[in-house]
Formats: sequence, C-alpha cells, structure tokens
Amino acid sequence: MKKMMGAMIVAGLAASALAGGTAFAQAKGDPVAGKKIFMRCIACHAVQPGAGAKMGPNLAGVVGRKAAAAPGFKYSAAMQKAKIKWDDATLDKWLTRPAAVVPGTSMAFAGLPNAADRANVIAYLKKPN
Ligand code: HEC
Repeated sequence: MKKMMGAMIVAGLAASALAGGTAFAQAKGDPVAGKKIFMRCIACHAVQPGAGAKMGPNLAGVVGRKAAAAPGFKYSAAMQKAKIKWDDATLDKWLTRPAAVVPGTSMAFAGLPNAADRANVIAYLKKPN
C-alpha cells in the first residue's frame, strides 16, 4: 500500500510538471489566441503590410521597430519623443497600461490586465495572418 501511494505521488508530480510546461508555452504567447485578443485593437489598428492607418498606426512589423515609425500616421508629440524600441518587454509594459509608459499618448486604450492576453497578442503582432 505504501508503495502504491509513492507511485501515485510520482505520477502526480509528473502531471504537474506537464501542466507547468503548458504555462510556459502560454507565457511565450500563442498567435492564434492573440488574433482573438487583437479584435480589441482592430477598430484602431491594421496589421497587414501596406494597409493604411486607422485611428492608430498600422502595426505591421512593429515588433523590433522604434516607436512612432509607421509611415503615414501622425503620432502624438509624446510618442514621437519616447525613446522606445518595441520588443516583448516594452510591448508588455505598454499593453499593460499605455498611459503609464507614454504619458500623453493618444492611444485611448486602458490596457490588457491579463499577462497571457498580452503575451498572446504580442505573438500575433510578430506573426499576423
Ligand atoms: C481607440 C483606438 C486604439 C485602440 C483600441 C488600440 N490602439 Fe494602439 N494606438 C492607438 C493610437 C492613436 C496610437 C498612437 C499613439 C501615440 O501616437 O501616442 C497607438 C499606438 C500603438 C502602438 C505603438 C505603435 C508605433 O508605431 O509606435 C502599439 C504597439 C499599439 N498601439 C498596440 C495596440 C494593441 C496591441 C492594441 C489592442 C490590445 C491597441 N493598440 C489598441 C490607438 C488604439
């Protein structure tokens, strides 16, 4: 009986290690889930290359680029002065609370409180479809 219990505990540990693996994959971001989150952005942002600006700039190629660099969009003075390069870390902060990262930004969006939502939408921005 003692042996059985031991085996069950080992099996339980293996299962939680697997679950941990899934959580890690989620922290890396899932572009398919991110596409759904992007529905909250799409009123203001196109993401296909060559598409025009909407209320906000086109976000094609934004990951790895300097802030305020999309052609044909009039950024706020605050964003033009912000010395930011968009990567996973800066986008994660920005999407948590835009106005805290660039005070005076014209992006009227409260933010995404859920870290997994942010990771997923960042993954989508890297690989829009
Ligand atoms: C109400 C319209 C609106 C919504 C909704 C919105 N944005 Fe924006 N976004 C803007 C505007 C306007 C700017 C330009 C801000 C500035 O110049 O200060 C911007 C800027 C950005 C930038 C910086 C672009 C650059 O070229 O530097 C990123 C990245 C971004 N938005 C991502 C998102 C994501 C992701 C979402 C959805 C989770 C979202 N936005 C939702 C309007 C919006």
